[in-house]
Amino acid sequence: MTGDTVEAVSCTQLAYAFGETRAVDGLDLSVREGEVFGLLGPNGAGKTTAIRCITTLLPVPSGMVRVFGHDTARDRMAVRRLLGYVPQQLSADSGLTGRENVALFARVFDVARRERAARVAQALAAVGLTDAADRLAGTYSGGMVRRLELAQALVSAPRLLILDEPTIGLDPIARTGVWEHINAVRAATGMTVLVTTHYMDEADQYCDRVALMARGRIHSLGTPAELRQGLGERRRAAGTGATDTLPTLEDVFRDVAGSGLDDQSGDFRDVRSTRRTAKRVG
Ligand SMILES: Nc1ncnc2c1ncn2[C@@H]1O[C@H](COP(=O)(O)OP(=O)(O)OP(=O)(O)O)[C@@H](O)[C@H]1O
Ligand SMILES: [Mg+2]
Repeated sequence: MTGDTVEAVSCTQLAYAFGETRAVDGLDLSVREGEVFGLLGPNGAGKTTAIRCITTLLPVPSGMVRVFGHDTARDRMAVRRLLGYVPQQLSADSGLTGRENVALFARVFDVARRERAARVAQALAAVGLTDAADRLAGTYSGGMVRRLELAQALVSAPRLLILDEPTIGLDPIARTGVWEHINAVRAATGMTVLVTTHYMDEADQYCDRVALMARGRIHSLGTPAELRQGLGERRRAAGTGATDTLPTLEDVFRDVAGSGLDDQSGDFRDVRSTRRTAKRVG
């Protein structure tokens, strides 16, 4: 923390290992209040693991994580009250209606009983699901399920919204829809957003700043424009790559992630994420 600005998220030398796998390996990360921050990186980079530490779903074995100044190790409930979370794996219950799913989250996240019904209706309206609210979630399309999960995360009016691949498997119109809903809530509340995505065009368009993560730590950080310009300058200096046009964020991603690809990256990614989506949405 510097001066009187409170950071929404601050990770200092965060490390988390699954057995021999160092999923997060000395992560330093700072998300400013009010910004949309994109955590990007190849499959297996450690994004979801880092996010699960920030949400207190995983303990922090090494290093420090603070959410609006609260230490996640010491002040777990305070942290949970501040955040909404859309996990990478689908979390809506297909045997409940949309409204029941959101009401469940309202209860879990401690929304006052007398406010619950109104807040649930408001969250459903915010994502355009009012008309479908009393249908079973099992009858929803993939895009509707993702919007339902957004309503679940928004019902507690979080100061920090954490989204792990919120738009995976959605058509371009549905993707835009999810972002429009997020931005409408941000405009009304000043909510901070931490998001992961493999869609570089989305990160470029919607994120104020992005961090490129690989092998458990951050390798590049800045606004999308800064990162693109930085790569453009490096290319010009080295006389490699296309130097007449500004690189895209996808070029920046390839530049960071492209060296020493292992079997979890490259073409496998598309296959894996397609399968994962088919399983989750089906
Ligand atoms: N429950 C687990 N048990 C064992 N290893 C795990 C577990 N979860 C993740 N890992 C490993 O930790 C590393 C980081 O995984 P993580 O899910 O954090 O990556 P990610 O950046 O979110 O990837 P993706 O883009 O595919 O979602 C990977 O090597 C993964 O295999
Ligand atoms: Mg992940």
